[in-house]
Amino acid sequence: MSESIQYELHELDMLKVDVADELLAGLQQTQKSIAPKYFYDERGSELFTEITGTQEYYVTRTEIALLKQYGAEMAACIGPDSLLIEYGSGSSEKIRILLDQVKPKIYAPLDISRDYLDSAAVGVATEYPWLEVKAACLDYTQPFSLPFALLDNCAGFFPGSSIGNFTPDSAIEFLSRVRNQLQDKGGLLLGVDLKKDDVVLNAAYNDAAGITAAFNLNVLSHINNLIGSNFDTSQFVHFAQYNDKLGCIQMFLESLSNQRVEVLGKTIEFSKGEMIHTEDSFKYSVSEVELMARSAGFNEIKSWTDEKGWFGIFYLF
Ligand SMILES: C[S@@+](CC[C@H](N)C(=O)[O-])C[C@H]1O[C@@H](n2cnc3c(N)ncnc32)[C@H](O)[C@@H]1O
Repeated sequence: MSESIQYELHELDMLKVDVADELLAGLQQTQKSIAPKYFYDERGSELFTEITGTQEYYVTRTEIALLKQYGAEMAACIGPDSLLIEYGSGSSEKIRILLDQVKPKIYAPLDISRDYLDSAAVGVATEYPWLEVKAACLDYTQPFSLPFALLDNCAGFFPGSSIGNFTPDSAIEFLSRVRNQLQDKGGLLLGVDLKKDDVVLNAAYNDAAGITAAFNLNVLSHINNLIGSNFDTSQFVHFAQYNDKLGCIQMFLESLSNQRVEVLGKTIEFSKGEMIHTEDSFKYSVSEVELMARSAGFNEIKSWTDEKGWFGIFYLF
């Protein structure tokens, strides 16, 4: 690592607790499930980055266009010399659009995928030598304390519509935790995928090149590595569909046969056609986002949307 970069990586121990219990409990339910955070080992993070480049996945390019078009207005909301905390930073590509305009003092990328976080964060620290980069590997679905002090001016950045992976009630809980974490020292810049024609939504989660399918299946390889289970990935297939009633894309892995899988000393039986639920991705209208933000305790909301109304970026404070 270069001597001149300002970089630290913190790891929160809580990542190591409850993983086995949580996975086993999910697989023992009537509707078997694996939480979406288990998509993200290093391979999963790479596959997600590949998804963002597919023609069908309008989400990333639409959000990036909004960041480019309205970055100066967003930067004015945040102000300079801040601590800028990114929740689920992944490749840290989107923050690069804002850094020169926001001019934060510290950038704090938070992510569950340790090695990917480390290399993306070192990349930012190297490219922006004036910036202190304080990365932290943690699970943001659990309450956590930041492993560094706040500054007088702080802001959160939560792009990619990852808020959609929470149920609407837990999204409100998460947003109010972020609000408490920021302690009235600043607001949250939140990217949200908006409700639209389900043909567009279904295509985005079923790309023709099969990258989303590979991403979904990779969760089984990841948990085999994590807890020594013996899922055979060739015996499951990707399924994703918009559920109009719930207002979310639902992603599953469908069992291709009657089969048994050993998980932590227990045998989990699957019948042919049975599904493991791996992700919900809730879509919102602008007014639903506003209601959610107010329910989480934010009083003021600024918003920017693209001309098709497909994606919104909101500054909540
Ligand atoms: C959908 S990707 C978005 C990546 C990037 N922010 C973007 O907008 O392109 C979700 C990111 O959040 C991270 N992530 C998912 N669940 C997480 C959790 N529970 N705690 C921390 N990070 C998480 C993943 O590793 C991944 O980098």
